[in-house]
Amino acid sequence: MALRVGVVGGGQLARMMIAPAVELGVELRVLAEEDAMAASLAAVAVGDYRDAGTVLGFARTVDVVTFDHEHVPQEVLAVLVESGVAVRPGPSALRFAQDKLLMRARLAELGMPQPDWAAVTDVGALQAFIDAHGGRAVVKTPRGGYDGKGVRVVDAAVEAEDWFAALAEDARGGALLAEELVDFSRELAQQVARRPSGEVRAYDIVETVQRGGVCAEVIAPAPHSSERMRDVAARIGVGIAEGLDVVGMLAVELFETTDQRLLVNELAMRPHNSGHWTQDGAVTSQFEQHLRAVLDLPLGDATGSTPWAVMVNILGGPADGGLDERFDAAMAAHPRAKIHTYGKAPRPGRKVGHVTVTGDDLDDVAYQARAAASLFLD
Ligand SMILES: Nc1ncnc2c1ncn2[C@@H]1O[C@H](COP(=O)(O)OP(=O)(O)O)[C@@H](O)[C@H]1O
Ligand SMILES: [Mg+2]
Repeated sequence: MALRVGVVGGGQLARMMIAPAVELGVELRVLAEEDAMAASLAAVAVGDYRDAGTVLGFARTVDVVTFDHEHVPQEVLAVLVESGVAVRPGPSALRFAQDKLLMRARLAELGMPQPDWAAVTDVGALQAFIDAHGGRAVVKTPRGGYDGKGVRVVDAAVEAEDWFAALAEDARGGALLAEELVDFSRELAQQVARRPSGEVRAYDIVETVQRGGVCAEVIAPAPHSSERMRDVAARIGVGIAEGLDVVGMLAVELFETTDQRLLVNELAMRPHNSGHWTQDGAVTSQFEQHLRAVLDLPLGDATGSTPWAVMVNILGGPADGGLDERFDAAMAAHPRAKIHTYGKAPRPGRKVGHVTVTGDDLDDVAYQARAAASLFLD
């Protein structure tokens, strides 16, 4: 009988596990939030991932449960584990991807380099942090943020008053995360795969470009990276994967500071936008690797299969809604471009697809990828 992997969440990350699952003969089953989602092709159930009964019912039909996002509550994960379900990554690892305050505290214990930070429970504490950090800081809601939602650069604590008010309403209480505003020259991401038996594989470090808090573009490998930097990044990635007992793909978002230090921004324990290039530019894609890792199969080679890969997100898409109508022009003009779309309705700022181009000449590769992606926008 085929191995069965259950993915909670029906977004594009689950969708992009479908092709490698088909190739391997692994049965992929998705619990989608609603009908007509990116991964609906593999959806066997539609239901609420916050409901323990729903998720447990789904989990009983597969050999291992993994995730498209990090929002499944710990209470639900605990029910799965108590019921003998193989949950990968496990709840004790996932909580550090669910809560940025827990993550900061744990990374500090592991001695990982990171921005100055503090847990702040009121406006006064945040103002003190701002005053101690040159009059500016970054404030984050510890849970539930993505694509820059839940991140603000502030120079006065009152700018986060609404978030403190929301905390007061939240039964779990808690605090906001204050961070020094890092003076970075660029953002990077280090991906690592780890399986339960302990085997790890590190991918090349990549440069990520965000616009308005959203990943716009990824260059693999990160240009102008010294051997020392690549080595430090890989050691940070492997150290976190082992230190937190991560299973599956781990992405470590990093800042490269103007004085050439690497600082950890945040973690994702699943395939990640920074690794979409691996579909077309690495021996083993992050989606295949995630399946292998959660099934505790030997990991695939993580090295790049081409000197350069550039991935450009299609953000928003055409106002008239049709991505397919753009295929003709994009494919004709850029035959080397690999076009990926997610079956999602275009909406301003929404990730609806991406384009990857690989090759020997970075300037040409980047040009082709950007030009092809732009044909999917108005
Ligand atoms: N401490 C910081 N200093 C400078 N920029 C930051 C800092 N934290 C976050 N950012 C910027 O905001 C973006 C989103 O922050 P992040 O914590 O990664 O949130 P999200 O969960 O939305 O991805 C980062 O990619 C970076 O560009
Ligand atoms: Mg981020």
